[in-house]
Amino acid sequence: MKRRIPRPDPGTARLNRNEIQQYFRLARTYLRPYWREAIVLVIGYFAFTGLNVIQPLVMAPVLDIAIGNQSIFEASPTDAQLDWNNLDLNNLGKFMLVRLGLNSLGAWEIISTLAIVYLVITFLLNLINYANTLLAVRIRNRARVDMQRDLFQHLFALSLDFFNRQQSGELVSRLEQDTRATVSNLESVARNVIVSPILIGVYGYLLVNTSLQLTAIVIVAGVLQFWVSRIIRSPIRRLIIKQQSVMARAGAYLQEMFSSARVVKTFVAEEYALGRLKAELKDVYAAQMRYAYLKQSDLPLTGIINGITNVTILFLVARELISGALTPTGFFLYLYVGRSVLGPINSLVLTYNAVQQMLASEQRLRELMDQQPSVQSGPVTPQTFETGITLREVSFHYGDEPTLNEVSFEVKKGEMVALVGPSGAGKSTLTDLILRFYDPQTGGIMMDGRDIRELDLKAYRRFFGTVSQESLLFNASVAENIAYARTEITRAQIIAAAQVANAHEFIEQLPQGYDTTIGDRGVLISGGQRQRLAIARAVVRQPQILILDEATSSLDSLSERLVQDAIDRVIQNTTAIVIAHRLSTVRNAHKIVVLDQGRVVDIGKHGELMKRCALYHELATLQFGETDSPTDEGSGDS
Ligand SMILES: Nc1ncnc2c1ncn2[C@@H]1O[C@H](COP(=O)(O)OP(=O)(O)O)[C@@H](O)[C@H]1O
Ligand SMILES: [Mg+2]
Repeated sequence: MKRRIPRPDPGTARLNRNEIQQYFRLARTYLRPYWREAIVLVIGYFAFTGLNVIQPLVMAPVLDIAIGNQSIFEASPTDAQLDWNNLDLNNLGKFMLVRLGLNSLGAWEIISTLAIVYLVITFLLNLINYANTLLAVRIRNRARVDMQRDLFQHLFALSLDFFNRQQSGELVSRLEQDTRATVSNLESVARNVIVSPILIGVYGYLLVNTSLQLTAIVIVAGVLQFWVSRIIRSPIRRLIIKQQSVMARAGAYLQEMFSSARVVKTFVAEEYALGRLKAELKDVYAAQMRYAYLKQSDLPLTGIINGITNVTILFLVARELISGALTPTGFFLYLYVGRSVLGPINSLVLTYNAVQQMLASEQRLRELMDQQPSVQSGPVTPQTFETGITLREVSFHYGDEPTLNEVSFEVKKGEMVALVGPSGAGKSTLTDLILRFYDPQTGGIMMDGRDIRELDLKAYRRFFGTVSQESLLFNASVAENIAYARTEITRAQIIAAAQVANAHEFIEQLPQGYDTTIGDRGVLISGGQRQRLAIARAVVRQPQILILDEATSSLDSLSERLVQDAIDRVIQNTTAIVIAHRLSTVRNAHKIVVLDQGRVVDIGKHGELMKRCALYHELATLQFGETDSPTDEGSGDS
C-alpha cells in the first residue's frame, strides 16, 4: 500500500516496438474523435509535398534557357529522352517544357510563364502550410484537453493513499507539462513522416538517374548524419525525463511555499525557503544544461557533416561536368537537388528525436494512467441506512507498524458514539476506514450487515456528512462552499444549514453576505468561522451519518462555544461518530469507545468509564477538565 509510482525507466536510445505501439494506442484514442480533420490534414501534407517537389523543377527550363541550351526547343514528344525512365537532372528542363507544352513559345515567354507558375506555387505552398499548421495545432490542442480531462478523472478515481504519497505540485506538472509534451511534436512528426520520404524518393530518383556514384556519396552523408546524431543523443530520453522530474519538483516546492506563506512568515523562514528554492533551481539548471549540451551538440555536428558533404558533392559534380558526364544544367541542378535531399533526411533525424521526447512524456503519463485505485467500488448500491455500522476485528496498518488492532464496536442507527483516546491512538484513521478511504487488512466494516466493500463507493459515501479536523474550504463564495458540488441545493436550504451551524449571523455581516469569496482554503475568515461553514456544508446534504473530528482546540473560547453549540445541535436526532475532545460531547454520547495505540481499551458510558477505565479517567481529568465529582458522573449517565 506504500508502493510509490515506479520511477521511469531511464530509457534507452532505441525506440522499442512495444513503446511505439503504446504510443500509437494513445494517439489513436485521442485522435479518433478528430479523424475527419486528420484526413484533411494528411491530404494537406500531400498537397504541400507535391508543390514542394515541383517548385525547384519549374526552375530547370529557366536554367537551360539561361545557359543557352537550344535542344530544349527542338524536342519532339516522341523523343526517347522524354521517357520517365530516362528522366534525370540533365534533361529535366526539356522534360518539363515538353510535358507542359511550352516548348513552342519564345524564351522570354517561357521564363515569364514559369516565373508566374513559380510564384503561384510559392503562394499556394505557404497558404497550405499555414492551413496545415493551424489544423494540426487545433487537433493537437483538442487532443491535449481530452487527455487532461481523462487524466484528472482517472486520478480522482484513485484512492486517498495515492494522494497522500504524491506531491500535488508534481501531479499538476504532469497534467500540464507532460500532456503538452506528449502531443507537442505530433504535427511535425506526422508531417515529416509523410513529407520527407516522398521528397527523398523523388529527389533520390532524379539523383540516381543522373549519377549513381554521386548519389551514393549523398546517401553516405545522410546515413552518417543520422548515426552521429543518434549516438550523441542516445542518453536523450533519460535526460528529458530527468529534466521533467526536477522541474516538477521545483514546481511542487513553489506551490507548497506559496500556500504556506503564513508559516514561512511566522517562522521568519524566508531566507531558508529561498535557500531551498535556490537548491531546487540549481538542479533544474543543471538538468537543463546537461540536456542542452547534448541536444545542441547535434546542430554543429550535423552542420559540419553537411559542410563536408557539400564540398564533396561540389568536387565530384565539378569533375563530372568537366568530363562531360553532366550538362551545365545538370551541374547546377545536382548541386541544388543534392543539397535539397539532405533537408528531408535531416528532418527524419529530428523526427526520431522528437518521437523520443514524446515517448518520454507519454511514459510519465502512462505511469499515472496505469495506477489502480487501492479501494475498489463494489456492485451493490445501498438505498437506505436501516440498522447501523459494525466494525468487526478491524486491523489496519499504513506501513509496517500496526495502526489499528482488532477494533470492534457498533454504531446503531440514531446513536451518538464518541471516540476518545490520546493523540496518535488511531481515531482519525478509524473514521477514514469507515469512510472507506482505506480498506482494513483484516476484519471488516458492515453497514446494515453488509460488508461495505460490496457497496458502490460513491453511493455509500453519500450517506455521510463529515467535518474534519482541518476544515478545507475552497476559494469560492460562502454559498458555493456550503452547497459544494450540489448545484440543486437552494439558497433557502443553504441559509437553513448555516443557521443550524451557528454561521448565519457572521455570514450576514460579511461584505457580500453569502456571496462573499473566502480566499484560498478560506483564509479570509477566522478558524471558528471556517469550522462552522464546514459544519453547514456537512449538514446541508442531510446525511444519515455524521462524522465529526472535533477541532476546537485552536479556537478562542467564544468561537469554541459557538462551534460547540453547532455540533451539539447537529448531532441530535441523527447517527453520529464524534472524535470527542470535550466533556459535553462525551457526556451526551450513547457510547464512548476508548482507543489507545490502535486498540479498543474499553467501551461504555461516561460514568461507568470514569470508575473502571484508568486511561479514560486520566483523559477526562486532563483533556476534558473533568473534576471527578459524583454529580458529573451522574449526569454522564443521564
Ligand atoms: N497517512 C498516513 N500514513 C502513515 N501513517 C499515518 C497516516 N496517518 C496517520 N498515520 C499514523 O497512524 C497513527 C494514528 O494516527 P491518527 O489516526 O491520526 O491518530 P489520532 O487521530 O487518534 O490522533 C499515528 O501513529 C500516525 O502517525
Ligand atoms: Mg486525529
